[in-house]
Amino acid sequence: MGDVHRPLRAVAADVLLSVENGVSLSQCLPPALQTLAPGERPALQALCYGTCRWFHRLDDELSSRLKKPLKKPDRIVHHLMLVALFQLRFSQQAPYAILNESVEACRALDKPHLTGLVNGVLRSAEREGAPEPKNDASRFSHPGWMVAKLRHNWPDNWQQILHANNTQAPMTLRVNALRFSRNEYLALLLEAGVAASATRFAPHGIQLSRPVQVDQLPWFADGAVSVQDEAAQLCTTLLDLAPGQRVLDACAAPGGKTCAILESQAELAEVIAIDESSSRLPRVQENLDRLGLHASLLQADAADTGQWWDGNLFDRILLDVPCSASGVIRRHPDIKLLRRETDIAPLAAIQTGLLESMWSVLKPGGRLVYATCSVFPQENHRIIQRFLKQQNGAVLVEPDVQWGHDMGAGRQLLPDPSSHDGFFYAVLEKPES
Ligand SMILES: C[S@@+](CC[C@H](N)C(=O)[O-])C[C@H]1O[C@@H](n2cnc3c(N)ncnc32)[C@H](O)[C@@H]1O
Repeated sequence: MGDVHRPLRAVAADVLLSVENGVSLSQCLPPALQTLAPGERPALQALCYGTCRWFHRLDDELSSRLKKPLKKPDRIVHHLMLVALFQLRFSQQAPYAILNESVEACRALDKPHLTGLVNGVLRSAEREGAPEPKNDASRFSHPGWMVAKLRHNWPDNWQQILHANNTQAPMTLRVNALRFSRNEYLALLLEAGVAASATRFAPHGIQLSRPVQVDQLPWFADGAVSVQDEAAQLCTTLLDLAPGQRVLDACAAPGGKTCAILESQAELAEVIAIDESSSRLPRVQENLDRLGLHASLLQADAADTGQWWDGNLFDRILLDVPCSASGVIRRHPDIKLLRRETDIAPLAAIQTGLLESMWSVLKPGGRLVYATCSVFPQENHRIIQRFLKQQNGAVLVEPDVQWGHDMGAGRQLLPDPSSHDGFFYAVLEKPES
């Protein structure tokens, strides 16, 4: 990605082109940020996240304003115009500045033959205002297949889910219970001038009124708190942890839940955290180090127990499987561009395989918690229902909780604009004999 002096908008267009080509924002944004002066970085972040969030609506508008699609080598200019449209529709920036800077960025992208088009399209977009969205995919700015799937799966809630996906998620903390009580840390935040309140369901959760940089959080570097959504924190309330237990976190990176487990029960015999990704596993160690916690880390395919298992069964297993991440779209709006409908069935097959393998290393009398950050039943209660039919003896535990929808085989949290992400949990126990 370009030289240091590239205009912000040209860099944003580059990032969006990468996302369109299948690269996630978390992969392509950090190097792009480095090409800009520190003062410009928050603006790049806002442009890229915002344009992804509203991509499907903006793309419909832009396509209707173009007589014909741009040729492939010029596709980056399409993204440049999307960024400008995002600002025209969703920001306070003066339209003349958006127009001028977009034309300038078009030149910087070495597309001088398209400056007239950029100017003309944006001028008419400004003059005519936003068109009426032509369908629900455009109105809610999601891919059509996602809208159809959510409408089918959640006939009473689909609009609420789509709306929540377009909001900005709050910043939520998990207080390290080994260091502070939640009330003690709330008092520290108050002293530091950070407005916050206790989460409703997670016992150690605190939601901030406004996001802040982590270095503004008292004792962050010393392990007092971690950033973690409320729904993700709930895993520890379901695991029923007790001293002496041997615990497996089968899909652990970046380690948010591994650390939550260790904080919520200080006298576990052992915690093993597995992840197959060599690039993500070090993040688990970084989090453990900051929090002063210990777990044994293994890089392996958890499903291939022959590769890593030492023959000792586990009392507790957390299986936080890879999934579509359809419950956390508000935090990762690029999912709208990256995910395909055809991804779901292969994911469900991986999830089922992992569940079956983890079941084989669970001790009789032990408990397994299955988790996803998805709102699609195919990855959630349907997997559990099928598993319960096939595994004689697996017992579904119905937790006594106030949150989520009872799906008959697990509980589903839908993303809530005022609090937690979308998440699914099912609790299974293996009988003693
Ligand atoms: C939903 S994320 C886990 C998030 C983590 N539990 C947390 O709370 O921070 C799923 C993880 O599973 C890992 N993964 C995917 N397939 C795996 C497999 N077969 N064995 C082990 N890890 C796997 C991915 O690399 C990814 O880090």
